[in-house]
Amino acid sequence: MPLKMRGHAVASSVYDELRQVLDTLPYTPALRVVRLGDDPASVSYTRLKNKRARELGLDSQVIALPLETSEAELLELIEELNRDELVDGILVQLPLPGHVSESRVIEAIAPAKDVDGFHPYNVGRLWAGEDTLEPCTPAGIIRMLDHYQIELEGKEAVIVGRSNIVGKPLAALLLRRNATVTVAHSRTRDLAEVTRRAEVLVAAVGKPRFIGAGMVRPGAVLVDVGISRVDDKLVGDIDPAAHELSTAYTPVPGGVGPMTVAMLLANTVKAARLRRG
Ligand code: GUN
Repeated sequence: MPLKMRGHAVASSVYDELRQVLDTLPYTPALRVVRLGDDPASVSYTRLKNKRARELGLDSQVIALPLETSEAELLELIEELNRDELVDGILVQLPLPGHVSESRVIEAIAPAKDVDGFHPYNVGRLWAGEDTLEPCTPAGIIRMLDHYQIELEGKEAVIVGRSNIVGKPLAALLLRRNATVTVAHSRTRDLAEVTRRAEVLVAAVGKPRFIGAGMVRPGAVLVDVGISRVDDKLVGDIDPAAHELSTAYTPVPGGVGPMTVAMLLANTVKAARLRRG
């Protein structure tokens, strides 16, 4: 029977650790979650981040701005949050509307408050192998694999998907763990031949059931980052038929998802401690 790796269980252990740390701090770490417009997915993600942060006892607020907010106005808000001594973490929910440059916004966030780990300064430190604020989903995946004692050293790891949010930073983290890392993507030739080499296969493409059983090496560890709504059901990038072949897999929902928010809060606490000393 393959091992089902449950994100809620691992996230709980992260929250337990964070509560212990928070008990020792003479201040309350503060997170600001900024959203433009009311795309349903973004509303739901930002609400969840805020709710979990408050449940943990952080000072958290969603700053919801109209979709028409100009780039200059958003940059001004970020400057204000950068200057605010009481704010430890700033997250701007992506994607942003077309009239706002995501890179200009990300680069405006003070690296010390960049709890998403998306600022080029933090990205550079990540690839240099330095301690940094790590992007939440990749950090959550590593935390989960560690929790279930999945060995990474020397393993063939294949990531399908090259986004700045998941694929690329996860490649850096897996490399740091001495895995042999391949990043495959939509232009990869003979993708199935590549994925069948994977001892650890991570799917982060956002295409429902894209990875079929025929693309999986028997005994592989499967990590599914995808979450799509199909006929009112949440499905991942990996066809559940492939789970049977695996040693361990993450379900959708209830796999990687809960880890992203847990690591965001871990980053907020880390950012607070680093900045406040
Ligand atoms: N949109 C989808 N995932 C993320 C994330 O991890 N952070 C932000 N800021 N936006 C996202």
